[in-house]
Amino acid sequence: MKFKNPVFLASGIMGETGSSLKRMAKEGAGAVTTKSIGLNPNPGHKNPTIVELDIGLLNAMGLPNPGVNSYIEELEEVRDFIKKLDTKIIGSIYGKNEEEFIEVAKKIEEYVDLIELNISCPHAKGYGMAIGQDPDLSHSICKAVKKSVSVPVFAKLTPNVSNILEIAEALVEAKVDGFVAINTVRGMAIDIRAKKPILSNKFGGLSGKAIKPIGVKVVYDLYENFDKPIIGVGGIYTGEDAIEYIMAGASAVQVGTAVYVRGYDVFKKICEEIKKFLEEENLKLKDIIGIAHE
Ligand code: SIN
Repeated sequence: MKFKNPVFLASGIMGETGSSLKRMAKEGAGAVTTKSIGLNPNPGHKNPTIVELDIGLLNAMGLPNPGVNSYIEELEEVRDFIKKLDTKIIGSIYGKNEEEFIEVAKKIEEYVDLIELNISCPHAKGYGMAIGQDPDLSHSICKAVKKSVSVPVFAKLTPNVSNILEIAEALVEAKVDGFVAINTVRGMAIDIRAKKPILSNKFGGLSGKAIKPIGVKVVYDLYENFDKPIIGVGGIYTGEDAIEYIMAGASAVQVGTAVYVRGYDVFKKICEEIKKFLEEENLKLKDIIGIAHE
């Protein structure tokens, strides 16, 4: 699959509606990823669901979304516009079991270029990481979705495991087409005046600057062990951050928290910064994918 550029919108930020996806496509993202979509409407966790820290964002949204039937109506409205911009659409999906994943995947398939399995949300009981921490469940869900759709299927991995390669191996055996690494790192913030956790869910997932070295290491390990394309995500704010992930083995990157920090035009900015680096070094993007392994 070819993308017009390697800087994509990550799931979870500005992907809640068709019009916000369209806006991100207009801002120059090479691909836009939907908010994770499930079978039925889900209000998510109660507020507060997000807290800004000096090292990133801590969130426990709880997978809020309107359900796949309503969401595909949103996609129907914007897909031609997004296609005209040569921007790809990545459909992030979640479910609690094989049947739910299959149903959502089949419904959304027609509207997206690639499916991203969210088996990594760290704070939605019975969903996300509850699957992605278990190699057998990860395997069976990936295999079931792969059998049901014809678009490529990538799995978004959780770093909240002791052996991520075991999970990746199970997914490779299930014929996953690629990896998205990483989802957020589990964490907590306490309001010391209120003397209790800030998030209503008590704990959540940390994104942003602090998690970049964790993500780079996971991408490095995946590239070293498997011959599958990798989309790097976690703490990418600048072209230099993206290049680190690419040198570790990612062919493309996703940006989430930095949309909030650097603004909607962050995709253009990061692309320009990558281009400047490549010109200075007299290199092409393909030359640096995985170069840190040589
Ligand atoms: C959320 O909706 O709670 C975040 C999704 C995720 O972490 O995968």
